[in-house]
Amino acid sequence: MLDVANVEISFGGLKALDNVSIHVEEGSICSLIGPNGAGKTTLFNVITGVLRADAGVVKFLGKDITRLRPYQICRAGIAKTYQLRNNFPNLTVFENIRSGFLKDALTKKERMRRTHEILELLGLRDKADTVVSNLPPLDSKLVDLGRALATSPKLILLDELIGGLLPAETDHVCDIVLDLRDRGYTIFQIGHEMKPIMRTSDKIFVLDQGCPIAEGTPQEIRTNPAVLACYLETEEE
Ligand SMILES: Nc1ncnc2c1ncn2[C@@H]1O[C@H](COP(=O)(O)OP(=O)(O)O)[C@@H](O)[C@H]1O
Ligand SMILES: [Mg+2]
Repeated sequence: MLDVANVEISFGGLKALDNVSIHVEEGSICSLIGPNGAGKTTLFNVITGVLRADAGVVKFLGKDITRLRPYQICRAGIAKTYQLRNNFPNLTVFENIRSGFLKDALTKKERMRRTHEILELLGLRDKADTVVSNLPPLDSKLVDLGRALATSPKLILLDELIGGLLPAETDHVCDIVLDLRDRGYTIFQIGHEMKPIMRTSDKIFVLDQGCPIAEGTPQEIRTNPAVLACYLETEEE
């Protein structure tokens, strides 16, 4: 579904991505992990057209999207949630989700039906009329996901959606991510905590200082010496 081939990008003298190639299979949950500053968010910005790569190609459903603008990439079917919360705090949950729909994509009636569907899917139905600034962090994150879902994406990029949550909340978000995959969405997520990544991923890619150092199933990544050396050793319990 998504093919990133030999992508490179530098910020001044810093090579933030160095020959990165990644393949995300349709209907799967793929994860991107690596230490802080590895280039994970930068890769999402390249995929969504926010940053332009110095070299390399990004293909989505066989089509070259490398030079498209962010709104064109969103219309093509890629939605993203941000590492920092990115909703309208003074609007209600319902209004936030409604703000995600693409212009002219659905009729008013369809939008209404779809908004209720998304609220249901995320367990936010009882909070539809709550102003987002009054929500706990978990629900506020889910509102971001709801806005992404409103764009009717095929591929959803989640930048640390799971993070800074209590264990039970993390499990809840994992369940939602797995449910989305079962509903036919393809997920590409950036994660920091290993447990939820291991639980949800079909495939994991590891970046370190802009370079891909490993890819494989959770089991393969768990035992990969290069990964253990650069990343996991600080996370093991
Ligand atoms: N717009 C930018 N300008 C300059 N440097 C940047 C910019 N965006 C990211 N970087 C740098 O690129 C590296 C990768 O950052 P980032 O992709 O945010 O890492 P991660 O998400 O893996 O923690 C870091 O060293 C960061 O400081
Ligand atoms: Mg990041």
